[in-house]
Amino acid sequence: MDSIKVVGGRELKGVIPISGAKNAALPLMIASLLTEDTLTLSNVPRLRDVAQLTQILMNHGVDYSVNGKRSGQDDLDGQTVHLTAREIVDTTAPYELVSKMRASFWVIGPLVARMHEARVSLPGGCAIGTRPVDFFIEGLEKLGADIDIDAGYVVVKAPGGLVGDRVEFPKVSVGATHTIMMAATLAKGETEIVNAACEPEVADLAACLTAMGAKIEGAGTPVIRIQGVDRLHGAHHAVVPDRIETGTYAMAVAMTGGEVLLRGTRANLLDTALDTLREAGTEITEVPEGLKVYRNGNGIQPVDVTTEPFPGFPTDLQAQFMALMTMAGGQSRITETIFENRFMHVQELARLGAQIHIDGNTAIVDGVSTLRGAPVMATDLRASVSLVIAGLAAEGETTVNRVYHLDRGFERLEDKLTRCGAQIERISG
Ligand code: EPZ
Repeated sequence: MDSIKVVGGRELKGVIPISGAKNAALPLMIASLLTEDTLTLSNVPRLRDVAQLTQILMNHGVDYSVNGKRSGQDDLDGQTVHLTAREIVDTTAPYELVSKMRASFWVIGPLVARMHEARVSLPGGCAIGTRPVDFFIEGLEKLGADIDIDAGYVVVKAPGGLVGDRVEFPKVSVGATHTIMMAATLAKGETEIVNAACEPEVADLAACLTAMGAKIEGAGTPVIRIQGVDRLHGAHHAVVPDRIETGTYAMAVAMTGGEVLLRGTRANLLDTALDTLREAGTEITEVPEGLKVYRNGNGIQPVDVTTEPFPGFPTDLQAQFMALMTMAGGQSRITETIFENRFMHVQELARLGAQIHIDGNTAIVDGVSTLRGAPVMATDLRASVSLVIAGLAAEGETTVNRVYHLDRGFERLEDKLTRCGAQIERISG
């Protein structure tokens, strides 16, 4: 398995292009199941999760093609893909495919909406907590589906089609919001989703569905109303910039020092995280091309954070922020409220000399003046990148093993960082 070797101690200087959001591209690709016409998506990142989802969609009968390179295009520009689900040939999403990535479970919504049946394996994904699917099941039942769990599969039937209703989630869930919103586009009558996720990726999916002919109001707020239509048609949609990639590189600059333009992104996708970084001593300004990030001369200030659904501080930036806080001038407390097992980076950061103690769902971080490079192990996607960031700021050499996870969600990380002066390389193995 590949590893990444980082020699720390260099400031980052230059331009980092921000890719389209993985967590928007995945539901957008799944939305192609809702229509027999072609859905064209631009700014799609080249990631392992995108390739994995392509396999799953092709198994259902989706034709998939990617535009070739165009003149003047940079290697880091996003790709344009065309997805056509002219005929759904198989309504089963098998264990072998779904177990590799949790988001693939979301095909259950479009499949039952269009085909009135689906059989989808219970999901897998990063090991960050139990991650049940009860909200999906209760939501689809509310829309009139009959559901059985049989041999590890969720079997859904709605012979007469789905019928709109009020679906209230007990807790904010991004995936359940995506799934019920997609399912409701082809249901009879009105669906109201209450306590919906407000993440920018939900609003992005709603914008695409609307371009496909869906009738949706309120996406991006806690109440979404969908009027079902008989059919959806093809559309062209550009994937929203990746706010987690944006925040990750901003935290890298905050940690190493230097000055970087994060090109093609915008502040309103991650205001809370940017405000937190400003409190920690980072200067961030929005410019027409994106965001300029540099560390001011005051060192890294300790800041307490608690992860929350959008617009709060995202759980997907918690590990990276913890890496930053390991070198702050004092103590900070980082509380994780979304996933119960998302501190697996703590023991790995400790190998670099970080001082972190866990108290329930809070990590108490005592900043140290220096981290020292060491071999570490990547455990999940965001944990992996937190180790890379820490390695960039550590003295000496850090080897991040098992970078498989990193390739799921960060497009050409080494290239982007090398262009900004980092000493980082992939070692195949
Ligand atoms: C999405 O996961 C993201 N994945 C995650 O990013 C992200 O961490 C998470 O939202 C929270 O922001 C994608 O968009 C592909 P949830 P999702 O349902 O939708 C509980 C990354 O690193 N819950 O919003 O799976 C659940 O256990 C990934 O890119 C139930 O209890 O997360 C959790 O505590 C990791 N029952 C909470 O809700 C359910 O049926 C929020 O999870 C569903 C969820």
